[in-house]
Amino acid sequence: MSITFVSESRTFYLDGKNITYAFFIDPHDIPEHLYFGARIPHDDLMHIRAYGGGTFDSTLPGEDTHVGYGLLAPEIVQYGIGDYREPCVQIQNAGGDRICDLRFTGFDILPQKPAIPGMPSMDGGETLVLHLADALNGFAADLYYTVYDDADVIARRIVYRNEASVPVALRRAYSFTLSLPGQDYEILTLYGAWAKERHMERIPMHHGVVSIDSKRCSSSASLNPFMGVLSTGATETTGEVFGFSLVYSSSYTLKAEGYHTGETTVTGGIHDFDFTWQLGAGESFATPEIVIAYSSEGIGGMSRAYHDAYRNHLINKRYVNTNRPLLINNWEGTYFNFSYEKLAAIVDAVEGTGIDTFVLDDGWFGKRDNDRSGLGDWIVNENKLDGGLRRLIDYVHSKGMKFGLWFEPEMISEDSDLYRAHPDYAIGVPGRPRCYCRHQYMLDLTRAEVRDYIVNAVNTILHENPIEYVKWDYNRNVTDNFSLGLPAERQMEFAHRYALGLYDICERIVEANPQIFFEGCSGGGARFDPAMLHYFPQIWTSDDSDAEERTMIQYGTSIVYPLSSMACHVSICPNHQTGRTTPFATRADIAHLGATGYELDTTTFTDEDRAAAAKQTEEYRACQNLILQGDLYRIDNPMESNFFSEAVVSKDKNTAILLCYRRMGSVNNDVKRVRMAGLDPAKRYYVRELDKELSGAVLMQIGLVPRFARGDFMTVKYHMEVR
Ligand code: DGJ
Repeated sequence: MSITFVSESRTFYLDGKNITYAFFIDPHDIPEHLYFGARIPHDDLMHIRAYGGGTFDSTLPGEDTHVGYGLLAPEIVQYGIGDYREPCVQIQNAGGDRICDLRFTGFDILPQKPAIPGMPSMDGGETLVLHLADALNGFAADLYYTVYDDADVIARRIVYRNEASVPVALRRAYSFTLSLPGQDYEILTLYGAWAKERHMERIPMHHGVVSIDSKRCSSSASLNPFMGVLSTGATETTGEVFGFSLVYSSSYTLKAEGYHTGETTVTGGIHDFDFTWQLGAGESFATPEIVIAYSSEGIGGMSRAYHDAYRNHLINKRYVNTNRPLLINNWEGTYFNFSYEKLAAIVDAVEGTGIDTFVLDDGWFGKRDNDRSGLGDWIVNENKLDGGLRRLIDYVHSKGMKFGLWFEPEMISEDSDLYRAHPDYAIGVPGRPRCYCRHQYMLDLTRAEVRDYIVNAVNTILHENPIEYVKWDYNRNVTDNFSLGLPAERQMEFAHRYALGLYDICERIVEANPQIFFEGCSGGGARFDPAMLHYFPQIWTSDDSDAEERTMIQYGTSIVYPLSSMACHVSICPNHQTGRTTPFATRADIAHLGATGYELDTTTFTDEDRAAAAKQTEEYRACQNLILQGDLYRIDNPMESNFFSEAVVSKDKNTAILLCYRRMGSVNNDVKRVRMAGLDPAKRYYVRELDKELSGAVLMQIGLVPRFARGDFMTVKYHMEVR
């Protein structure tokens, strides 16, 4: 049993792999938080209640005694009853008042976590459902808590219910409240932009609210839906670290609040900016899930907790551990400028390289000769692709390779047959000029008929052609938020309904094509979030394919997301984004720390390149299982030093790889010691590159000294195994 209820003290203890979460139901039926952290025995914890502070400034409603003094932070902060921290929920009752006073009414313990209808979430795990209700207005909430015996995370979410006979407006419907003791924390976020996704930023916690958000109807490259709360000074390997990762793809917010009680309270979920949800009598509203990780072993421990949780319980089991296509994508090789002959030549040129999949990117459909037209017309452009898709697919198959195809299902070009027939399918306010972005509009996924069109158009192509791989792109964010399908009073439901529409089409396309491997993409890696990962086992990490810049992007992405989820390609030099030239071997070594592939015009390959590529793909295949299933240990952070080193160690600690990268060479080369991590100190490892056996203890205590070749952007790789 992972969940225990001690009836005498009315305390719940939720035990995960190495963690415990505890709270109790106080005499006023308020669930008061007690603890979240490393695994502890089920001692009575009431002594911490006397520490003072108190989160309520007023009395509890109707009780003229200051019981608030000594009250610990509740499991859900509510508005209008004397708790002035960031509320988790705000309602507006039919009469106009916004008071909400949810108290405990009962609980259920479920052996398996129920799915959230219409929204992706983690599976499995014993689940506590805590029932709360307001005795006066019929508003109720079910708080879900799930713990796992194979990952140090707790998954939480809330279902808000209107049990009254009149509607209630949900003005804020966050997924959780969690109070952490003290305020000696730093906040870690993953900020970025196009071609600069998920860079790390740390700021000190302070009194007041630190918040991150997206108002784009997409999780966005600006700020990934993740917040780390780190004990001050926590490093990659030391210190207590809490992580908050939201399984959501639309506008969101996450907040950490330093309050005068001396605590830090974290909350968030669906953004309440531009949000109001009309909850009719008898209706309920499910929030997205927040996955909260704990590590006493620094940021690295937190990342491994997320990698295990997402690989074991979020990413589609059909794909999570399957060998990844080792692909050649034509985008950087041709952009829109291709013909059947050109593509066939790219395919011919990979012969003998070990590349096993050809992916045809943007430009194969409608009148799509540039990015100004064609989106929405998912019909092959035979003028460009003589003989149609089928001829190319057959050719690729005749070479023993698989075929992949690019789509951008959520978009519509003004210059498209779809727009000419259904201008109303595009998001926008009638009579008001709309914003373009990359010359395109977005389809209104809140409307069922629009979703049906997309699903039908995409599935027709996928059913009529033997396609093994799909890249699902998304190149702009929502503007002109308005749906012709919603009445005026429901327009502020738009952002969340867009997410629900997106999940609906993902589900109906992915599940209708179980033979196809899906990759997510978003003008690079803008929509790289756990919800998308549920449908797409890998996501294009960034349009910046420069090996040097990729070290930072991949390092930051791995803070939450497993290596297996990061699509990383070897591209041509000078690099198209930065103009930089890096060695071919370096580009491959960096791209191998993910789901790898190539993205260039292979007809430019020399025999030497082809031989090098063959060696690279062979090496990648040999360590693919490590990349897909192993534990990641980040050793040198390229955002803080001249080096980038990462190790991946198998779960049984018998095999490992270590990649060391030096950005700038210098005449008087600094001798770099790289101490391995994650090995078993008692085991002996054969280090292939040294042709020598060393103990795990020596490899971790003394380390290795990579002999970088002269020059910039050099790598050294080590393979280790217990023989
Ligand atoms: C953006 C993606 O990130 C690229 O890889 C490519 O697919 C283009 N879109 C195509 O328009």
